[in-house]
Amino acid sequence: MAKVAVIYYSQTGTTHLLAEAVEAGAREAGAETRLLKVKETAPDEVWGNNPVWKQHREETSNIREATNDDLEWADAIIFGTPTRYGLPSAQLKNFLDQTGGLWAKGALVNKIGSSFATTATAHGGQEATILAINTAFYHWGMIIVAPGYVEASQFQSGNPYGASFTSNNGQLAPDEIALTAGRLQGRRVAEVAAQFLNGKK
Ligand SMILES: Cc1cc2nc3c(=O)[nH]c(=O)nc-3n(C[C@H](O)[C@H](O)[C@H](O)COP(=O)(O)O)c2cc1C
Repeated sequence: MAKVAVIYYSQTGTTHLLAEAVEAGAREAGAETRLLKVKETAPDEVWGNNPVWKQHREETSNIREATNDDLEWADAIIFGTPTRYGLPSAQLKNFLDQTGGLWAKGALVNKIGSSFATTATAHGGQEATILAINTAFYHWGMIIVAPGYVEASQFQSGNPYGASFTSNNGQLAPDEIALTAGRLQGRRVAEVAAQFLNGKK
């Protein structure tokens, strides 16, 4: 059984819903899972008047914030983020930037990595964001597992890089096609991680 950490940032809830689908897919594949958010770093005065942001923060206050210990615990790590100008959110990047100690001791070597993203618009940077996160996996010596077109449903979602959804600025919740892609990604990562672990034994 593989241990899978799904670690995400979400400001208005879209990426959170996709993260739940990814985690559910990994769990259904038999993995032990952790669904974790990264720390909010935006100051209250920036978003304080945004009721959707406030509501999402309150609704997910029960979700634990990820730490480096979770990265060490996991056999597979799946990151999710909203796109910010075609890049991962600063909140997720802030988390990545605190992993120097793990990197220095090679603690992430040979773990499985995968990423997903949501955007406002169809060409707003889903693949670019996923690829940017994946760059960290190269530095950590990890093995990237993308969903590809491994099942027919992927021809509907249309994104072999990672699960994704076009939210129209958080006004649309991930539809069944996106949630199916999320579950597939979680399942595939869990299955490949388990195969890899069994192969090492
Ligand atoms: C500062 C900022 C920059 C953004 N940049 C982009 C972008 O480059 N492309 C895009 O399609 N959406 C962009 N968005 C929209 C979000 O990525 C999109 O609404 C996302 O689905 C929100 O996810 P969440 O509900 O999990 O917070 C941006 C939003 C913010 C606040």
